[in-house]
Amino acid sequence: MNLNLVGVVGAGTMGHGIAQVFLRHGFSVVLHDSSPDGLTHGAEKILRGLKRDVEKERLTEQEAQEAGKRLKTTAEVSGLSSADLVIEAVTEDVEVKAAVFCALDSLCRAETIFASNTSSISITRLARTTHRAPRFVGLHFFNPVPVMKLVEVVPGLETTEQTLEVADQIARSVGKTPIRVEDSPGFISNRLLMPMINEAVYAVLEGVADPAGVDGVMKLGMNHPMGPLELADLIGLDVCLDIMKMLYEGFRDSKYRPCPLLEKMVNAGWLGRKTGKGFYDYAKP
Ligand code: CAA
Repeated sequence: MNLNLVGVVGAGTMGHGIAQVFLRHGFSVVLHDSSPDGLTHGAEKILRGLKRDVEKERLTEQEAQEAGKRLKTTAEVSGLSSADLVIEAVTEDVEVKAAVFCALDSLCRAETIFASNTSSISITRLARTTHRAPRFVGLHFFNPVPVMKLVEVVPGLETTEQTLEVADQIARSVGKTPIRVEDSPGFISNRLLMPMINEAVYAVLEGVADPAGVDGVMKLGMNHPMGPLELADLIGLDVCLDIMKMLYEGFRDSKYRPCPLLEKMVNAGWLGRKTGKGFYDYAKP
């Protein structure tokens, strides 16, 4: 497949991270966000990330400058019409994602592949919002995108093997390892990770240990790079809660019930790093 232009929808943490890795690997990227402020912020982060690549000698000064020039931003979805691949990374809400795909479907060429970075919504369900279910696939990147090596490649019911092979190639071409996972609630990553985080919150709620104690056990005893509660703060407690609810509803099994303390913290607006407070305190962003 000739991948001349990659469209990324959503300039938040995942979207700008995805855009950055495609730029770093020689692709041209058009980044779309309906919020002009979000778009500016995302583009700034990408350029800062590329500068960091120069400092760390992963790119030369010239390569980083050229990568920066290959980035276009647009607040209009129509700016993505000539993309060969579009990766959606907007908020984890089925209606919001459906509206994005519906708009893109009428704008983009029939052969353009659509990918969703959803961490929890069924790919089959999202593909249905377009007329290109055979060319619709899940490409689930991990935070921080420039650092994490994995992409879960998720087929919908109608996704063709050819689309999946292209998806695998795309992941490899940006230095990631693709792993195929069926379209099942939470795929593999969040089916395993989120119950661990949720259980860590229960442990705090029950007073078994404080957040530093819980995280310390997992870092020192299990060699995890971050404790589950530090990681929850990085991911966003609202995102963790949404995924737990999706697992609970998807499997209809009480073992996935979200911890009441997690719900309470989200209700208080304590969402982790992005709001300056979660299980730990952070300087206001
Ligand atoms: N954004 C971009 N880059 C980041 C970053 C961020 N938020 N945090 C750290 N980095 C970069 C640093 O800049 C550094 O890169 P350089 O080579 O340029 O210096 C590199 O990561 C290593 O960082 P540090 O040396 O500061 O710290 P560290 O060695 O402790 O690693 C970490 C930080 C990579 C985040 C590590 O703690 C880690 O791997 N944590 C687990 C992350 C994880 O599990 N992510 C998956 C979350 S789940 C998900 O994303 C899916 C979902 O659906 C919810």
